[in-house]
Amino acid sequence: MSKKKLVFSGVQPTGNLHLGNYLGALKNFVSLQKEMNCIYCVVDLHAMTTFQKPQALKDNVLETVASFLATGLDPNKSIIFKQSAVPGHTELAWILNCVSRIGWLNRMTQFKDKAGSDKEKASVGLYIYPNLMAADILLYKATHVPVGADQKQHLELSRDIAQKFNNDFDCKDFFPLPQPLIPKNVSRVMSLRDGTKKMSKSEDSDYSRINLKDTADEISKKVKKAKSDSEEIPDNLKILEKKPEALNLLNIYSEISKENLEKVLNEMSGKEYSFLKMKLTELLISEITPVGKEIKKLLSDRAHLEQILKKGKEKANIIAEENLKIVREKVGLI
Ligand code: TYM
Repeated sequence: MSKKKLVFSGVQPTGNLHLGNYLGALKNFVSLQKEMNCIYCVVDLHAMTTFQKPQALKDNVLETVASFLATGLDPNKSIIFKQSAVPGHTELAWILNCVSRIGWLNRMTQFKDKAGSDKEKASVGLYIYPNLMAADILLYKATHVPVGADQKQHLELSRDIAQKFNNDFDCKDFFPLPQPLIPKNVSRVMSLRDGTKKMSKSEDSDYSRINLKDTADEISKKVKKAKSDSEEIPDNLKILEKKPEALNLLNIYSEISKENLEKVLNEMSGKEYSFLKMKLTELLISEITPVGKEIKKLLSDRAHLEQILKKGKEKANIIAEENLKIVREKVGLI
């Protein structure tokens, strides 16, 4: 098991999956399932680190599964399950809490961003969130982790924790050091309202993001309102890189059209942003609205989604228990 390539990734069920999640993570999940064994987890325990209404959490778990399926994940190829259904995640997280160092956690920028100015009021769960994430990955001895760039620092921490565990318990190579798989151009899809901030579920304005469930009309309105630039589209990357909003729109266009950015610039340079916006709207509508419709359709059969989670849990639990038994032995719990 340990030498084999294995993919693991997770998505928080906090509602409103958006274009950033889709281009930064979900599309990669789908292409990886063709070549490797993959495990994809709806990380409800991570979502709880900021308060969630209980019913909303339950609903959002199913909506996340529906989004996985609608983007092309196949439960016969990939294991799809809910984090809290496999108790090994929290058990290993506790063991890793005792391996991870406070100094390491203090460096995590996502905690600083999410906790805001009053850190004393943040939950302890939010602070140790990266240790649980390391447990998710290491519980399956995953070797590859597809994520957006915002998760890179957490992945580095997972590697440090794996290495320290292997050293402390004298078991070189026991936990593989997981490699992040981060897409090149869309590692960080930015907000449509501010090209210096990442597109996110928690941003107040819905105009900052394209949600997977948006209708054609909503997509069209959001792209029309998106911030761009007062000058015409430049002819070279050096100038474009100084215009974050324009770069973001062109990057999204390049990714969905599958044309590289230089080629897109060649075609678009000298044109008004309204032209790019019109083309981008067409592309986004044809890429995203079928996904949204499928999510809505899948959500009308909750029993089917629950059944997928149940089967996924059974498969995930077998791998988790096998690995956890060895971990318990190594640390002296059995
Ligand atoms: P989450 O739920 O915030 O996001 C899910 C995935 O979407 C990516 N992503 C983005 N990519 C590009 N541009 C954006 N604007 C953007 N916004 C989000 C994220 O990088 C992520 O890949 N901590 C994780 C969940 C997690 C996890 C794990 C991931 C828990 N355990 C183990 C990998 C392995 C998170 O909060 O993702």
